Amino acid sequence: MRIDVISLFPEFVAQCAAFGVVGRAGERGLLSMHGWNPRDYAEGNYRRVDERPFGGGPGMVMLIDPLRAAIRAARAADPAPARVVYLSPQGARLDQAKVRELAGHARLILLCGRYEGVDERLIRAEVDEELSIGDYVLSGGELAAAVVVDAVARLQDGALGDAESAVQDSFEDGLLDCPHYTRPVEHELGAVPEVLMSGNHARIAQWRRQQSLGRTWQRRPDLFDEAALSKADRKLLAA
Ligand code: ADE
Repeated sequence: MRIDVISLFPEFVAQCAAFGVVGRAGERGLLSMHGWNPRDYAEGNYRRVDERPFGGGPGMVMLIDPLRAAIRAARAADPAPARVVYLSPQGARLDQAKVRELAGHARLILLCGRYEGVDERLIRAEVDEELSIGDYVLSGGELAAAVVVDAVARLQDGALGDAESAVQDSFEDGLLDCPHYTRPVEHELGAVPEVLMSGNHARIAQWRRQQSLGRTWQRRPDLFDEAALSKADRKLLAA
């Protein structure tokens, strides 16, 4: 997968992608990252990338032309069609289902805004999709882009080892993950639940499912879809 980042600070997103699972995905050739700075496409001695908003008000708005030139340069750098995603608080909320969908594209172009945002005409003309990573305001789209890069990179085939399989992740089955424990069995902070040492895989799987159901019900009732529960799930939840 190829990801191009359009940003006034493209190195920032690249740095975020240099470590751990995502860094390894890069080393294995599963992901390539490319940065494009709209300032390199801006005109004049000052290389302006922003102007004051028409209609007044605080802040600045990013100009159409430097952004459009950077997006076009990114598109032209590879013949595969790219999905252009603009990160902004006005976008649809990113979730694991959307991450899965994005991870299936051969190319993404992530557009990061700064200041008050981007001229709306550029968004209408060049952007396929506007996404938000949550209901709070960041000072730019770079951190949000880094979140998208991380989440899609780890889903690329071969990015995770067997031991890290994404199948067991939170949200992959619509529920939060169960708790995890490792050595030592006894610790001053408490003991590991006995069931996890039982060697009984069916009991362990049942316990984990029960924990996931209970946590989701308590912590994230908005995720909880009672109608989708199996009869066995209902029993576990009631127990
Ligand atoms: N840019 C600023 N805030 C953002 C958010 N919450 N999500 C995505 N992009 C953003």
